[in-house]
Amino acid sequence: MKGLKIKKLSKAMNGLKIVEQVTANFLPGRITALIGPNGAGKTTLFHLITSELKVDKGEIVYGDETITNLPPYLVARKGVGRLFQDIRVFGNMTAFENVATACYGPCFETPWFPFFNLKRMKSINNDIRERAFHWLNFVDLAEKKDHPAASLSYGQQKLLAIARLLAGGFSLLLLDEPTAGLNPVMIKNVLRLLEKIITEDRSKTVILVEHNMGVVNEVADWVYFMNEGRIAFFGRTDHVLGDKEVREIYLGL
Ligand SMILES: Nc1ncnc2c1ncn2[C@@H]1O[C@H](COP(=O)(O)OP(=O)(O)OP(=O)(O)O)[C@@H](O)[C@H]1O
Ligand SMILES: [Mg+2]
Repeated sequence: MKGLKIKKLSKAMNGLKIVEQVTANFLPGRITALIGPNGAGKTTLFHLITSELKVDKGEIVYGDETITNLPPYLVARKGVGRLFQDIRVFGNMTAFENVATACYGPCFETPWFPFFNLKRMKSINNDIRERAFHWLNFVDLAEKKDHPAASLSYGQQKLLAIARLLAGGFSLLLLDEPTAGLNPVMIKNVLRLLEKIITEDRSKTVILVEHNMGVVNEVADWVYFMNEGRIAFFGRTDHVLGDKEVREIYLGL
């Protein structure tokens, strides 16, 4: 089972230290929350892990492989998947098509593969179809399979984006504010879904960037508190959320 280790990671932009000497460990089978005020560097840390931004200094190790500054498509192939702060689904494709296109296929080693492997193509297509239905069902969107993604509610689009991540077979899930902008009922749905993901597959590692402390309290096992680019505090959820400094800096209490 693969965990994520971040070692002394630093990133400056325009002369500003955005991420500074961040060291953190994320364990498989666990949901770890990354919290902190606006501008703390949480999303930037995700950009660094997925290589959308280049690391200045430090190391990122997933499982036993160093993934620091690999091209983003190779980081994705190592199992690193990301849910963006703004949802990114294909609005004019149906919910089913959105998930089907995210299914990781073993084929297409060459462009002419489909022409010479018709039989195998058929079985691959059936397999993808089955898997797409499975994940749509998993996030409770089976009824919406033929609806264009753009016609779904904001919350349903988030569920769809999560279904795409699951269909992609990623083992490390970087979730940037999955409950932001959702109504309380939908927040509950997402919470149940996160718990289901981790209990059904203990090899998955989930990192959750979240501003809603109720959500963190309910699903996170461990919490990193980030402030001004640094990890200021780390510990068990109740311990971090109960800390005086965290409450003062972040919760304004
Ligand atoms: N491309 C960039 N160039 C310069 N500075 C940037 C760039 N992107 C982000 N920043 C700065 O980096 C800091 C950290 O931003 P980041 O988006 O990582 O914060 P965050 O913790 O995700 O905040 P939020 O909770 O509001 O999403 C902010 O001060 C932001 O203005
Ligand atoms: Mg952010």
